[in-house]
Amino acid sequence: MNDCSSFLKRGSWQTTGLDLRNEESIPVNSIIDLHISIYSSITIYHYYGRATMIITIANAKGGVTKTTSAIYLACAAHKDDRQVTVLDADIQASASLWADSASAGAPLPFPVNPANLSTFNRLQPQDQPGKENWVIVDAAPAEKIMTAAIDVSDFVIIPTSDSPMDLQQVWAMISAIPEETPTGVLIAKAQPRTTAFHETVDALKDQGVITLDEHMAAGTVANAMLFSTVVPLRQDVKKALGTNPQHLYEYTDLYLETLRIKEYLGL
Ligand SMILES: Nc1ncnc2c1ncn2[C@@H]1O[C@H](COP(=O)(O)OP(=O)(O)OP(=O)(O)O)[C@@H](O)[C@H]1O
Ligand SMILES: [Mg+2]
Repeated sequence: MNDCSSFLKRGSWQTTGLDLRNEESIPVNSIIDLHISIYSSITIYHYYGRATMIITIANAKGGVTKTTSAIYLACAAHKDDRQVTVLDADIQASASLWADSASAGAPLPFPVNPANLSTFNRLQPQDQPGKENWVIVDAAPAEKIMTAAIDVSDFVIIPTSDSPMDLQQVWAMISAIPEETPTGVLIAKAQPRTTAFHETVDALKDQGVITLDEHMAAGTVANAMLFSTVVPLRQDVKKALGTNPQHLYEYTDLYLETLRIKEYLGL
């Protein structure tokens, strides 16, 4: 048995993983009560004026391609005529820096706006058919704001590396996301021919995190799915920070797969 074996079990987060709803010693119920009281005390309205699909890219683990995936997915959605906004909820402001750097040469074709707790409290949760706007949130790792973003999201994408060690955070994320919120696990920056990659996929599947096609074949439905799209390690993508990427590689597939999941789940 290798050293990673303890991370392969979904339950292992419970002893050492991060409880996203119990951060900064705030009792879980206080955070939930706070959200309930905010929601009940304001008039919820269409922040963007039209029906909206909110997708949060979240993982408490750093460096797993949250920002890169947010920008590339936004580019793919924009190419398909969606009206796209990226919300930068990370205090590091990487998505905003990306947009600022790009604006000097080839600007990103959609706005990247800073977001705080108040922003998410004003966003409209999913309740309208015929959504046309995509709001893609680059969520901060391990912040209350990540929970706030997830709570208003129609769909959450959890990017992870192809290391089984990183699955501990994936289990923590899945457990922290409300059961009714569909979630896709994306293996990114991957080297698909390695043992680590196959161990990661096997561990996810062992715990029931399978692809949409596998669900369809089995006639099952689950809110946490594995994207069949894998984003490999690519120098071109690594160097894309601060540019308006023209070649979207597997992110076009990720976008199309997100559309399929959206349709399958009736989002
Ligand atoms: N497909 C890829 N191939 C190679 N490198 C990549 C790929 N995607 C992202 N990277 C690089 O990996 C690093 C981390 O990516 P990114 O900043 O998007 O992650 P993050 O999860 O947003 O990190 P943080 O937690 O710091 O916000 C960056 O240097 C980025 O350029
Ligand atoms: Mg980032």
